[in-house]
Amino acid sequence: MSQDSIAVGSIAGAASSVAARGLWSSRWAFFLAATGSAVGLGNIWKFPYITGQNGGGAFVLVYLACILAIGIPLLMAEVMIGRRGRANPEGAMAALAKQAGASRHWGKLGSVAIFTGFLILSFYAVIAGWAVAYAPAAAIGSFAGLDGESSGALFAAMLGDPWKLVGYGTLVLLLTLGIVGLGVREGLERSLRFMMPGLFVLLLVLVGYAATTGHFAEAVDFLFAADFSKLSGQGVLVALGHSFFTLSLASGAMMAYGSYLPAGTSIVKTSIMVALADTGVALLAGLAIFPLVFANGLEPGSGPGLIFVTLPIAFGQMPFGQVVGGLFFVMLAIAALTSAISLSEPTIAWLTEKFGISRLKAVLLSGVALWLLSLGTVLSFSAWSEITLFGKTFFDSLDYLTTNLLMPLGGLGTVLFTGWVLSRSTVQEALGIGHPQLFRLWWQVLRGVTPLGILLVFLHSMGLFG
Ligand code: PHE
Repeated sequence: MSQDSIAVGSIAGAASSVAARGLWSSRWAFFLAATGSAVGLGNIWKFPYITGQNGGGAFVLVYLACILAIGIPLLMAEVMIGRRGRANPEGAMAALAKQAGASRHWGKLGSVAIFTGFLILSFYAVIAGWAVAYAPAAAIGSFAGLDGESSGALFAAMLGDPWKLVGYGTLVLLLTLGIVGLGVREGLERSLRFMMPGLFVLLLVLVGYAATTGHFAEAVDFLFAADFSKLSGQGVLVALGHSFFTLSLASGAMMAYGSYLPAGTSIVKTSIMVALADTGVALLAGLAIFPLVFANGLEPGSGPGLIFVTLPIAFGQMPFGQVVGGLFFVMLAIAALTSAISLSEPTIAWLTEKFGISRLKAVLLSGVALWLLSLGTVLSFSAWSEITLFGKTFFDSLDYLTTNLLMPLGGLGTVLFTGWVLSRSTVQEALGIGHPQLFRLWWQVLRGVTPLGILLVFLHSMGLFG
C-alpha cells in the first residue's frame, strides 16, 4: 500500500469519497496486507495449543472444513462489502443495507465486529509481548540446555511477572498504534515482503529439525489421523471460532482492508491465496511443534504456553539455535504486529468517520482504552488467576466471548446479510466474478452451506445431538 493510502483516507475523516479515503497501491499490496493480518499468533501460537487441547486429527479436519465451507466464502463477502461500501464496517454495512432497501440497523452488525476486534486486540497485544520478550532471550542463549521442566519454569516465571508483561504489552500497543497513527505503512509493506517468506523458511527449518527428533511420525499421526471420539461438541465450536480468528473474519479487519481495495482486483483469487497461505503456516507450525512436544514428554493439551515451552528446548539444542531462535521470535512478533495493526484499523476508521475526530485523537482514545483492558489479561496470569467467571479467567473469558461467540454469530449475521438481504445482482457485480458458474457455486454455498454449518456447530456444541 502506498504510504498515503490509509493515512490520507483516514485523515480525511468523515469524507467517504474513494479519492479521499485512499486505496491500496496494487493487488499485491492488498494481498500482503491481508496475509499479514491473517498470519499471526493465531497460526503459530494458538493453532498448535488448541489442537493439542482438542485431541488432534479430528479437530484439524473440522478446522479445515470450516476454512473451506465457511471461512473462504465469508472472507470474500467481507472484502466485497468493504470495497462496495468504501467505509468502516458499520458505515459500509449500513450503506449497503440502505441501497438494498433494508434497514440501516444492519450497520450494527458492523459495530459488533469492530467491538470484537477491539476486544481481541486487548489480549493479542499481551501475547505478542511474550514473543517480544522471548526474542532477546533466545538470542543471548538463555535457552541453552533447557529441558521440558526448566523451560516450563522459565515461562511460568515470565507469566508471574506482571510488570514484565505490562511492559512488553505496552510496547506492542505503542508500536501498533504508532504505525497506524503515523501512517508509516510503506515501510511495513516493504518489510512484509521479507518477513512473510522469511517466516515461512524458518518454519521449514524448524520442521526439518523436528524431523530429527524421532517423533515426527507420531506428530503427523496426532495431527492428521482423525479420531472423532476425542472431539467434543465444544471442540467443534473452538475449531469454527478459530477458522474466523485465523482468517481475521467477523472483526472488521478484512472489511476495513477491503474498503481500501481498488476496483478491478479479483477478490476471489486474492481470498483463496490468503486462505492457502494462512492454512499452510498453521499446519507447518503444527509439524514443527508436536514432534518436540512428544520428544520432550510434554503435554499436548497444556494450553497457551505450548510453543513458548517447546520451542526454546529446540533452540537450546540445535546448531545455531541462538540465531534461529532469535530470528524466529522476531518474526513471530512482526507477524503479530501486522495482525494487531489490522485489528486496530476498524476502530480507528470508525472513530474518525463516525465522529469526525482526527486520526491522532482516535489513536490516543483507543490506545488508552486498549491499554486499560490489557491489564485484565496480564493479571489473569498472576494476581487474578483465581478470579474466574464460569471457571474462566479474565483472559479465558475474553478469548471465549470473542472467538467462540461473537465471531461465529457475527459471521452468521454477515453471511445472512450478504446472501439474503443484498440482491444477487448487486453482489455479483460487487464481487466481480466473471464466471457465472463459479459465482453460482459461491452464492449457493454462502446462502446455504455456510449459515447452516455455523448453526449446526452451535447446536452441536450445546449437546443437542447427544
Ligand atoms: N488472524 C490473526 C491471527 O491469526 C488474528 C486476527 C484476528 C487479526 C482478527 C485480525 C482480526 O493471528
